[in-house]
Amino acid sequence: MRTYDKLLADNKKWAEEQKLTHPDFFKQLAQQQTPQFLWIGCSDSRVSADKITNTQPGEIFVHRNISNMVVNNDINLLSVLQFAVEVLKVKHIIVCGHYGCGGINAAMQNNSLGIIDYWLNGIKDVYRLHKAEIENLPTEIEKQNRLTELNVQEQVLNLAKTNIIQKAWANKNYPHLHGWVYGLSDGIIKPIYQIKAGTSPEALYNYKNL
Ligand code: CO
Repeated sequence: MRTYDKLLADNKKWAEEQKLTHPDFFKQLAQQQTPQFLWIGCSDSRVSADKITNTQPGEIFVHRNISNMVVNNDINLLSVLQFAVEVLKVKHIIVCGHYGCGGINAAMQNNSLGIIDYWLNGIKDVYRLHKAEIENLPTEIEKQNRLTELNVQEQVLNLAKTNIIQKAWANKNYPHLHGWVYGLSDGIIKPIYQIKAGTSPEALYNYKNL
């Protein structure tokens, strides 16, 4: 177990190593950030955007919440999204879920957990939308995995419907939207869903399922 002072000591060590290998690293980064990607991921400590994609500071703009949700009245997410699209002009937005997600699994049960119940309602809606398919699966783990994938799909669709994305698509041919699922047991990201920039709102209604 690390103590908090070990975090600070390791930070110093890391900063020194960076300076040795890339002398201009901090000078360049301090001036500006030009990330090409916005990452919307789960808060889970095992799914760290830059670690699992082997990217460096400055490459990915990140928003994380429980179960990587795109909730259309979440002012935090909308602020991040607008800044990423209109100021940073990211070319790709990735919604990345993960198998074994505690939020997904909790949403499949009917226990009351407190405040988080409100948040899990969004996942319960995804379950209801795809109930027939999910309940047809033989095991609990397959049901959880499928809900994880379908949740990513629905959050990508939620993104596409925001006026921030619709406005961007009316003017330019980005950002593209991607749905990915990360495997905790093998460390591999599986791309499962994609909506290309410029897809019309009408087409979104008929967008094919995973
Ligand atoms: Co999770």
